[in-house]
Amino acid sequence: MHTLKRTFLISGASSGIGRAIAKNLLKQGHQVIGISRDYNRFKVSKENFYPVQLDLSRLKELPLKANELLQAFPGLDGVIFSAGIGRFGSLEEFSYEQIDTLMTTNFTAHVYLTRAVLPYLKRKTKSDLIYIGSEAALKGSRKGTVYCASKFALRGFTQALREECSKDGVRVCLINPGMVKTSFFDDLAFEPGGYAVNYLNPEDIAEAVSYVVNSRPGTVIDEINLNPATKVIQKKTI
Ligand SMILES: NC(=O)c1ccc[n+]([C@@H]2O[C@H](COP(=O)([O-])OP(=O)(O)OC[C@H]3O[C@@H](n4cnc5c(N)ncnc54)[C@H](OP(=O)(O)O)[C@@H]3O)[C@@H](O)[C@H]2O)c1
Repeated sequence: MHTLKRTFLISGASSGIGRAIAKNLLKQGHQVIGISRDYNRFKVSKENFYPVQLDLSRLKELPLKANELLQAFPGLDGVIFSAGIGRFGSLEEFSYEQIDTLMTTNFTAHVYLTRAVLPYLKRKTKSDLIYIGSEAALKGSRKGTVYCASKFALRGFTQALREECSKDGVRVCLINPGMVKTSFFDDLAFEPGGYAVNYLNPEDIAEAVSYVVNSRPGTVIDEINLNPATKVIQKKTI
């Protein structure tokens, strides 16, 4: 196992999966720059953790902000793209603005950020781009038109990017979890079932990320799909 200390940028580090990934990488002694909109949700108070307030849906600001980050952290070794939102319903229940926000936050912002960091990462001998996709990247589901589209788009993007970057030592991985117990479900009408076999924990995804970043240089882990043992979706009682 590789124990070299590295610098990672994590989007969505204030909550759920992104926060668990940040904690795990910090525990391993890596330096972490965490992006989210709300500083107050950062619960990680550790040396080597640098919170950055940034709304990824403001696409036009991203190239400049990313450049500022790269100037401040020129040794960046990788990015984990975990920021994302969930909205589900039949297509006609979506406003045009909601469609735009979902696609921008879950897909286009990641493309912009990738575009900004790629020239820097290509100068290194080894770097990692890890995207948190979803089971929704693999199969369309009822009430999931826009969410599934955003995750399918991400999967197509990572497959093509992997081809484009392999000769430059930039490893591209997509991690597709089933339901994970996080704040993702706070504003949704459903959630995973209540037994431990019905959901993944954010730490399970953090372990998968750890496996990818610590894997031997020269290996590429292209996709990881992981699911709770027994999938149960329950409606919330409001
Ligand atoms: N939970 C699941 O069952 C599940 C399953 C499969 C895949 N996923 C995916 O996993 C990723 C993380 O979800 P989660 O479960 O960890 O949800 P979460 O606990 O709600 O975390 C979402 C994170 O994204 C950040 N974020 C959202 N919009 C943002 C924006 N415009 N700009 C910057 N940051 C933004 C949030 O920070 P702020 O609100 O502070 O900005 C937060 O840190 C998402 O991409 C989601 O699609 C989740």
